[in-house]
Amino acid sequence: MQGVDYIPISVATLLPTQAVGLDLYQQEADSERLVLYRGAEFPLSMDDLERLRGRGINRLFISKESRGSYQKYLRKIATTSDTSNIPLTARSGALNEVVRDVLNAAFANDNLDQTVSAAEQLGVLAADIVTKDEFAASDLFRVLHHDYATFTHSANVAFYCGILAAELGYEREDIERITTGGLLHDLGKLEIEEEILCKPGRLSELEFRRIRMHPALGFRKLAYREDLNEGQLLMAYQHHERLDGKGYPVGCVESDIHPWARLCAVVDVFEALTSQRPYRTPMPRSKALMLQQRDSGTAFDPEMLACWKSIIQRNLAT
Ligand SMILES: [Fe+2]
Repeated sequence: MQGVDYIPISVATLLPTQAVGLDLYQQEADSERLVLYRGAEFPLSMDDLERLRGRGINRLFISKESRGSYQKYLRKIATTSDTSNIPLTARSGALNEVVRDVLNAAFANDNLDQTVSAAEQLGVLAADIVTKDEFAASDLFRVLHHDYATFTHSANVAFYCGILAAELGYEREDIERITTGGLLHDLGKLEIEEEILCKPGRLSELEFRRIRMHPALGFRKLAYREDLNEGQLLMAYQHHERLDGKGYPVGCVESDIHPWARLCAVVDVFEALTSQRPYRTPMPRSKALMLQQRDSGTAFDPEMLACWKSIIQRNLAT
């Protein structure tokens, strides 16, 4: 069997007792070969899932043709209103996949209406998950992807924004708006050439200048929309500003930076450090926090960074 005809899916999105309706494959140890793990009509039991987790298997595979059915299955889990018998891990795993898929399509089509309305709907769903009492950030970390794509980065930043906003005590409606803002914060990157965004080597001065335009480009795209508020717009415009005025695009300081943009800056850099980049491998979460701590008060809002650190440290142990 050729691996290229298959796509990986996260085990965390599979529900016990419910047949996904797709053949599931697993990779043989010590080889690239994929073998049938479970036929479409057989549901997985809780024991099966425990065993997979015990063996450190987080991914199974499905055939490329069944991608549409898998997305349909995920949407059902992520958006169902009867969530009583769906574990939160499965819901956040499914929602994360849906967010990535929807954002990817919306970004690729460059359709602003579609992007903003998808971001709003997904922001509400994500906020619902991260504000649940039983929500554990460590479960979410397990299901997130850490590849280098603007839509992956935006999806992760959005979840992190929601988690931090909830911990900081924002009201539910604001958590939804902040999460939506997180999904849209890097929209301006869609106007930057892929070769520059993915360049593995050093950027030239000119390329740097081009990348640094993305907050203004995103803001310009979103500024006239009545369905976004000031905080959300400023998340796009100011998420690379620093408290000491050495950020961009304007170089404004402290209280001139909207609190939601300061919040976004903390989790944006954390996400970037802990994900794959064209020029380096992901950094461990503890090391990323150490690096960020050095810039507490100069780049980052100290209170927000401290709050983010406490969330991560609590979840590192689990
Ligand atoms: Fe950015």
